[in-house]
Amino acid sequence: MNRVFRVLIPFLAVVVSITSIGFAEDLSEWKLPPVPVPKDNPQSKDKIALGHQLVFDIRLSKGDSISCSHCHVPAAGGGGPTPRAFGHGGELGRWAPSWVNSAYYTSLFWDGRASSLEEQTGALPGKMGPITAPPEMGAKIEDVVARLNTIPEYKKQFNHAFGTDATPENIAKAIASFERTLIAYDSPFQKYVNGDKKAISPAAKRGFELFKGKAVCITCHTPPNLSDNMFHNIGVPQVGPLKEDLGRYEVTKDNGDKGKFKTPTLYNSASLSFHMHDGAFRRFEEVVEHYNKGGNPNDPNQDSLIFPLNLTSAEKDDLIAFLRSLTDKRLDGIKSPKLP
Ligand code: HEC
Ligand code: HEC
Repeated sequence: MNRVFRVLIPFLAVVVSITSIGFAEDLSEWKLPPVPVPKDNPQSKDKIALGHQLVFDIRLSKGDSISCSHCHVPAAGGGGPTPRAFGHGGELGRWAPSWVNSAYYTSLFWDGRASSLEEQTGALPGKMGPITAPPEMGAKIEDVVARLNTIPEYKKQFNHAFGTDATPENIAKAIASFERTLIAYDSPFQKYVNGDKKAISPAAKRGFELFKGKAVCITCHTPPNLSDNMFHNIGVPQVGPLKEDLGRYEVTKDNGDKGKFKTPTLYNSASLSFHMHDGAFRRFEEVVEHYNKGGNPNDPNQDSLIFPLNLTSAEKDDLIAFLRSLTDKRLDGIKSPKLP
């Protein structure tokens, strides 16, 4: 090899690698970012530990009957164990969606009626949510606060975390802080996005391409959280005790919002026992088939983004392989901590 070549080869290698970086797909928009944290509720270890206890504690409910984790079951992807949730009011109209990645949503609940995780809990004055909603945990917040302050270990922990005894506000804050840790950072797809090219299977990679391409899932399940934080009517069959669930319309009273529900994240959805606002589907196969056939074309309010996809059965399998790569097993394994 002559001298010129010996000098040129490393130079060429650099050029080649720079060009291939240039051609490699930029996946940065798919990376789950740090969660937004409200200024008046910064994350702390003490708050997170306290919130972890509170969501597993039945003493936040009327008659010590149910905890958050009865309806948001970690092993079931953080979603409900029955197609419609059961609380003090018997069977409710809606399925309990996952709390995984809910810290990224700009509004909470299927119809977006709560604007923060703190508000969603129902602990804050004048705000209805699971703790205080009569058909759910059915508690009076004053009773919960008084109760927690009679338990010396809780009293101590609230004082450590907030500098005061338990109050409605700091119960809400502790729970929200814990929920802000339920993020699917360790899912195979996130490892892939972060550069581990072998973290997901070839089938999942093909499924990812379909998700962005032919199957047009990305129009609503946008990165990074795979939710556009918007509301759509995708023609889900109405099942369960409600004759008709008008969804977003209940909040806006705008006729165009009838039957629209918030686009959910798809992280950890492979572990869910049910899917959709009313738990209408059990398996991914049913979900994908629903989209493939164009939803419910007889629903006059259905979104124009839902139309027949003509996916082959191999393509459906690939799409499902991609959906399965979104599961962070760590979150499915969350257990109840020791309660005081
Ligand atoms: C009786 C069952 C039940 C209990 C107990 C319960 N939830 Fe829920 N949860 C639901 C249902 C049903 C919904 C959806 C309701 C709706 O959209 O109208 C929901 C919605 C949510 C959401 C919104 C997720 C999203 O996609 O917007 C969060 C977060 C949440 N619950 C957290 C909690 C916390 C924290 C507790 C305990 C303080 C709790 N839940 C207790 C059934 C329950
Ligand atoms: C027009 C917007 C839109 C498009 C396009 C779309 N989705 Fe959805 N997706 C939604 C909404 C809204 C819901 C909740 C609907 C409901 O509960 O009634 C949902 C729910 C889901 C769920 C259930 C998640 C859960 O928590 O139960 C899965 C899985 C899903 N979509 C996957 C897909 C796939 C795969 C595609 C592409 C084939 C796709 N979606 C295309 C808006 C969309």
